[in-house]
Amino acid sequence: MTPFRLGVLVSGEGSNLQAVLDSLHGRDGIEVACVAASRPDAPALARARAAGVPTGVFAASDHPGRAARDEALAEFLTAHGVDLVVLAGFMELLDSAFVRHFDGRVINVHPSLLPAFPGLRAIEQALDYGVRVTGVTIHFVDEGIDTGPIVAQEAIELPYALDIARVEERVHAVEHRLLPEAIRLIAGGTVRIETAESGARRRVTIEGERRGER
Ligand code: GRF
Repeated sequence: MTPFRLGVLVSGEGSNLQAVLDSLHGRDGIEVACVAASRPDAPALARARAAGVPTGVFAASDHPGRAARDEALAEFLTAHGVDLVVLAGFMELLDSAFVRHFDGRVINVHPSLLPAFPGLRAIEQALDYGVRVTGVTIHFVDEGIDTGPIVAQEAIELPYALDIARVEERVHAVEHRLLPEAIRLIAGGTVRIETAESGARRRVTIEGERRGER
């Protein structure tokens, strides 16, 4: 059976990449085909190399502009035969041409319950706002900022006076479980983005999942 190939995009630490490598790479017909970083000093690159996964660095400053960078990135992912692009702490926007090229084949992990707190520093935004519940969202990437169809979400309750380091720890623990779970579902071919009667194309259905059940 041909493996389902992931291209993982990173900018920093790479703890989500590590979770994907540990729980999915080389198992159940899934493999991490390549890892691309937006910065040459991303610690995530060492994690990819340690797992024997090919890496590339695509810093915007090495290209005439973001469109050219994203084109080179798309070529790298295509050359590695990627079926799904996973943004795992990729801290830069991808241009519309990239998103259209990989339409429905790019997902992102975001540390809030979207649509609350999109963009950067989502955990700080949630704490500053004073919400009692936050969480993690895995969503398909569209041309907006953290606006694409939602594949999976999990809530985390925030007790009073919880410091940011402890919230981050809890958010990361959920991310490290939810991201591989969502990838496994997509790789299994059971995830579809459907068009609602209103015309909105953002309802994600997972075969076998019924309302009220997980
Ligand atoms: C994660 O919290 C992710 O949700 C956010 O950036 C962080 C990346 O962490 N987009 P890591 O690089 O995977 O450790």
